[in-house]
This record gives sequence, C-alpha cells and structure tokens, in this order.
Amino acid sequence: MTGAKALEITQKYPQVHLLEQTQQLKALLTIIRDQNTNRGDFIFYSDRIIRLLVEEGLNHLPVVDNVIETPTGSKYNGVDFLGKICGVSIMRAGEAMEQGLRDCCRSVRIGKILIQRDEETAEAKLYYAKLPSDISSRYVLLLDPMLATGGSAIRAIQVLLDHGVEEDRILFLNLLCAPEGVAAVVLNFPKLQIVTSDIDDGLDEHRFITPGLGDFGCRYFGTD
Ligand code: URA
Repeated sequence: MTGAKALEITQKYPQVHLLEQTQQLKALLTIIRDQNTNRGDFIFYSDRIIRLLVEEGLNHLPVVDNVIETPTGSKYNGVDFLGKICGVSIMRAGEAMEQGLRDCCRSVRIGKILIQRDEETAEAKLYYAKLPSDISSRYVLLLDPMLATGGSAIRAIQVLLDHGVEEDRILFLNLLCAPEGVAAVVLNFPKLQIVTSDIDDGLDEHRFITPGLGDFGCRYFGTD
C-alpha cells in the first residue's frame, strides 16, 4: 500500500509512525519480501530494518533538558531520556527483534509473552508471560514483526496493562502491518504508539499480510 493509502492511515491515526520511505528502506523491504531471498539475506536485511525501527522508536520517548560541560569548558544544552525502558517480545517472531533493541540499548531488560490462537474458539490465548518486576514504571518497546489481525497484539497489550504499564508508555514496533491490525490496535488502545516500516494492502484468507513477506518467524528462524 505504501504511498497515498499508507499516508492516509498515518493521517487518520497520528499515533502510527511510518518510517521515512527512503529508497534505501524500499530496497531493504524488496529483499525481505522477495520469495527467492535466502535465509541469510532475509535475516541480515530484516535486522537492518529492525535497527531502523528501534532507532525511530527511541525518537518517541520523552526527554528532559540536560546541560553538560564539554572538554573545552563550554556548556552544551543537551537532553537525557526521561524514564527507564524495557523491551517485551511477542514469541516467537518478536524474539528476532531483541538483538536490534540490545544493539541500541545496552543491557536492556527484555520480557517475553507467548500467545497462541485457540483453534476452537479462535481466541488469542495467553500461554506464558515473563516480564521485568518493575515494568509498571518503565516505557515498553513491544516487539512483533507482523501486525496482521491484531489479535495477538491486543492480548499482549492487555497483559502489559494488567501488569500496571501505562498505555501511553507503550511503543509497538513492527516491520509490516495490515490496515485491519492497525485499526484494531488503535481503536482498543488509542494512547499507544505504533512504529512500522510499511502498511500493506490487507489480509488473505489465511490471515497473512498481502503483499507481505510470508511467515516471518519461519523465514527468520529457518522452520516450516
Ligand atoms: N505473521 C506472519 O509471519 N506473516 C503474516 O503475514 C502474518 C502474520
């Protein structure tokens, strides 16, 4: 969808931040979307986009003024991040984004949430959650590369809120999203922010994002 329609979505939902659509980003997305891309390249180029997402996510954290003195004895009017952060990955695909976060934020704490669809009820069910004990006082970078229907994301966000995280302290980072998923997350949690590298056309009958890139977890981790 990149182009007019994706921009329309970001205008409708100002809490959705689309990475600047540079030719470089487009080239990276082209590689990971290509069904002929081998696993090594898929990992390498996905990691590059993940790094861009993390860097952009950090731009949306609040800062306070911090005046320091440089070795020349001059003052520099800088800033400092206001609060502490942590990451939370939605297993399993979200784990692929953990290293990108660690590369930018040394020693960052990272929690994990496992959610799976109950095949009978179609409900997104929570199987496991391990989160930093002081998560309620942190800004949370929630990691999941694909925002499709929004079912798992909504369940995961609910888990964070149940642990005392404030909605406006959650930044959801993903590589690709479907308009349906964006709408579902934003309507349920209007104060949360989404950072994404592209907004696609929609979902197919298997709830895969189209044009998409296929199954991210299988391509990244080399499983079927
Ligand atoms: N998860 C994926 O890996 N791919 C999609 O297209 C949707 C969800």
